Amino acid sequence: MADVVLGIETSCDETSAALLVRGSQGPELAGLVILSQDVHKVFGGVVPELASRAHLTAIGPVVDRVLLEAGLPLSAVDGVAVTAGPGLVGSLMVGVCYAKSLAAVGRRTLIGVHHLEGHVFAPLLEDPFLEPPFVALIVSGGHTLLLDVPEWGQYRLLGETRDDAAGEAFDKVASMLELGYPGGPEIERIAKQGTDRFDFPRPMMGAGLDFSFSGLKTAVLYAVRGAADLDADKADIAASFQAAVFDVLISKARTAVLETGHPTVVLGGGVACSRTLVAQAAERLRSVARVAVASPRLNADNAAMIARAGWFHLDNGRRSDLSLEAEARMPWPGLERSTPSPSRKAVE
Ligand code: KG4
Ligand code: ZN
Repeated sequence: MADVVLGIETSCDETSAALLVRGSQGPELAGLVILSQDVHKVFGGVVPELASRAHLTAIGPVVDRVLLEAGLPLSAVDGVAVTAGPGLVGSLMVGVCYAKSLAAVGRRTLIGVHHLEGHVFAPLLEDPFLEPPFVALIVSGGHTLLLDVPEWGQYRLLGETRDDAAGEAFDKVASMLELGYPGGPEIERIAKQGTDRFDFPRPMMGAGLDFSFSGLKTAVLYAVRGAADLDADKADIAASFQAAVFDVLISKARTAVLETGHPTVVLGGGVACSRTLVAQAAERLRSVARVAVASPRLNADNAAMIARAGWFHLDNGRRSDLSLEAEARMPWPGLERSTPSPSRKAVE
């Protein structure tokens, strides 16, 4: 148990710190600072070496800043939750070392958190009555997962991507269309001016709950190469690509709801920052489930979600010791891989 938890997230290109304090209805967010590393925009993707150096420069000031924002002294912090993986190992190490130092020096309890578990907990920060059982669809730059969550802390993997993550496909398509990085927000913006007229494939639709986005990406590449005037077709290609990705994501979430009977779908991860995805999911799932999603600031990588997941584990008596290590491919504690059911059929 802890009463003030400092969260630290440095798994990719955001240096973030957050403070959660014990309130009457559970933990309350007292401060959140997210510093996005702009340097990667020049390269069109994250450069790991530059990311870890930037975290090293930023971590101290970011933690100082969140304490100032919350009006709390460092001495008030009695728990430290940090992303231990998965992610870029050099980046993770900065956060993990900083968290371990704070824990050792101040005799604070330490908890290492799985980054994706953080994304599952994000909506709970704004909706304290959110309760399992639910289906979680976690869509980020590195992962695309469908989970059955019967209890907080228990996860059954229903499906995952066999190749690219959805966010990664957004970033690559944006680069083909000569849009900026990260690609998701750029595609969402330009797609608003386009129509879904390219009829791109919906990979693995109707074939279980796994995903695949590489074939779709290739179809977009052919459309880009075949365009007589790319500037004229850009918005329609973006709209058609986005429609194909969201159609697959929402259809599979719907199938998962019908299979599990859960009343709620939690949407999380960077791609859930898309208001288009959230609106379409709410509309198409309305007859079977409610959609729970955090505001964009809490869906992109941030330390508040890490602090919230860490808080749950600390409250349940778990803690890490000073041997905690950053792990690029960290296994997810509590994740069970389900055996695929042969009779599984898509409903749409
Ligand atoms: O969860 P996240 O912040 O970082 C990882 O853990 O990977 O996700 C980042 C991903 C990027 O690929 C970005 O293009 C995508 O989320 N993204 C979006 C939108 N905003 C961010 N994808 C589609 N539409 C958006 N509006
Ligand atoms: Zn993430």
